[in-house]
Amino acid sequence: MLTTESIMEALREVKDPELNKSLVSLNMIRNIQIQGHDVSLDVILTIRGCPLKIKIQEDVENAIRQLGAERVTVTFGAMTDEERAALSASLRAEQHASRGNATTQGGKAPSAPGIPQTNYIAIASGKGGVGKSTVTVNLAVALARLGKKVGIIDADIYGFSVPDMMGIEQRPTVIDEVILPVERYGVKVISMGFFVEDNAPVVWRGPILGKMLRNFLHEVHWGELDYLLLDLPPGTGDIALDVHQMIPQSKEIIVTTPHATAAFVAARAGAMALSTTKHEILGVVENMSWYTDRNGDKEYVFGRGGGEKLAESLNVELLCQIPLGAPGNVLEDPEYSPSVYSSNHPTGKVYDELARKVTQAVKT
Ligand SMILES: Nc1ncnc2c1ncn2[C@@H]1O[C@H](COP(=O)(O)OP(=O)(O)O)[C@@H](O)[C@H]1O
Ligand SMILES: [Mg+2]
Repeated sequence: MLTTESIMEALREVKDPELNKSLVSLNMIRNIQIQGHDVSLDVILTIRGCPLKIKIQEDVENAIRQLGAERVTVTFGAMTDEERAALSASLRAEQHASRGNATTQGGKAPSAPGIPQTNYIAIASGKGGVGKSTVTVNLAVALARLGKKVGIIDADIYGFSVPDMMGIEQRPTVIDEVILPVERYGVKVISMGFFVEDNAPVVWRGPILGKMLRNFLHEVHWGELDYLLLDLPPGTGDIALDVHQMIPQSKEIIVTTPHATAAFVAARAGAMALSTTKHEILGVVENMSWYTDRNGDKEYVFGRGGGEKLAESLNVELLCQIPLGAPGNVLEDPEYSPSVYSSNHPTGKVYDELARKVTQAVKT
């Protein structure tokens, strides 16, 4: 039956996709009017240009239609500054309650105070261009395919390529000072690139950079996460070290190409993880391992054996070898991304296997 109560009850199940909370509990539903089989109502969004408006509208309409409504008219409004401040304050309070202490929760390693309780996995490499970001993005997507709640912090200040690689065009919603990550393929993403105008090159100086990263950990409303992946800057410079030290409990995956020199340089990143930051290394990913030619033969374009040698020298497992080849996604696809391999692409399957290994090594 169509009553204000039944509609409110139905909308209790409809969540704000960014906050993952019921529209009713967020006090976003107002002014319900019922005339015969027609329903109209106001939905009050956190900010006016909410990027997920269409999704919210669809979900609200569907929920009310299921009660027997024929026509549902949604009018959008935006919260007042006071309402937004109150919401932001309650999100912060919730964040502090879920973090705060350094106790162990479930299988998760204890966190430093104030940062999200989750399993941190940093993706590191000796030098740029070996596929660190590609591996970060695809491991995250594969973990999400396994049903895990996953986030990425794109901490590579020189690159911040994660949004582009995932085909993200929108910017994060900011409610007062609470930043909501952008979700794509079930992965929550935050990147330096979101806060840079028109891809302008930026010279990040130490203090600002440190502040940004701290914000990404402290001010971003991650919600519950099983894994938070960090795309680190390449190498063993100060910045990489800072990031490492900000998250003392992080585990690491080292990415290299099969070339001996690349593996040698990557070993230094591995050595830093072990000696300076005492991060456990989960293993090595060898990327660009071979190219399969038309006859199905493997060509070892960048040499052979680097990943295995590196894994040996760090005394860890070679987790996988990823061949050369593009995902072959088509631009017309509304879910297009240049760098994400789908689960039916052979390389996507390699990433699924990598994700399985990660879930075994780092239990949630
Ligand atoms: N297995 C692969 N096959 C083909 N191209 C790849 C592969 N891995 C990475 N690339 C491409 O190589 C370039 C460098 O990869 P990227 O992930 O940006 O490296 P990094 O983050 O280490 O600098 C990108 O253009 C990326 O699309
Ligand atoms: Mg990169």
